[in-house]
Amino acid sequence: MTRFIVTENYEKMSEKAALIILQQINKKDNSLLGLATGSTPVGTYENLISWNQNGLIDFSAVKTVSLDEYMGVEETNEQSYRWFMNENFFNQINIKIENTHIPKGMAEDIDAECKEYERRIQLLGGIDLQLLGIGENGHIGFNEPTSFFEKHTHAVALKESTRKANSRFFGSVKSVPTHAITMGIGVIMSSKRIVLVVNGEHKAEALYKSFFENVDPMFQASILQYHQDVTVVADHDAMKVIYDKKVAFNDLISL
Ligand code: PGA
Repeated sequence: MTRFIVTENYEKMSEKAALIILQQINKKDNSLLGLATGSTPVGTYENLISWNQNGLIDFSAVKTVSLDEYMGVEETNEQSYRWFMNENFFNQINIKIENTHIPKGMAEDIDAECKEYERRIQLLGGIDLQLLGIGENGHIGFNEPTSFFEKHTHAVALKESTRKANSRFFGSVKSVPTHAITMGIGVIMSSKRIVLVVNGEHKAEALYKSFFENVDPMFQASILQYHQDVTVVADHDAMKVIYDKKVAFNDLISL
């Protein structure tokens, strides 16, 4: 089932998503959180950081697994997702860094790393709550449009459109890595609960296609229609196409 929470703007979207994570940690202090990198979740992390610093939330028993990492980029490089997550979240909260897991994009044997990453997720008891962003081409993690849904964690060649979208962090498209490791769709779908954050009109078409068109591997996020517990936290701008098409849907909570 998909529940929609629609908020006025990015700030409210971020606050609402952070509240859902707060509730999850209050319910289970050693939750395994699946985390996303990118611009969209930064505000969510900012709320959690501030609540942690004010003693409202405790990450000391929390564990995390990230969705993806670039291949061929050192962890110490400012463009790696490890660096991004440390900088924008982990270094500012009381989480134990050894409890934060991110695929190793510099591993010599990438296939072995993918298998080991998935095994670790299983050993940790599975993902309690997976936070997701969405790409304009429908990717979740770095599961790019293709003819099938890849079940397992795997190496992937990034689409030109993805490299272009991410070039804002690199200065030029040429400098964006060509490959990444991503959790597979099967792993994402095994999460007990999914929270998808989405804002801005540039994502409105993607949001509409994800939940109101056929499930199609050429638009990977559409698989989320088959998950039993998805909460979409969207701002009004991201809802534009859904509003324009006047689609009927039941579980709308407007804030
Ligand atoms: P963004 O990326 O949050 O930076 O827009 C989302 C994604 O590509 O998954």
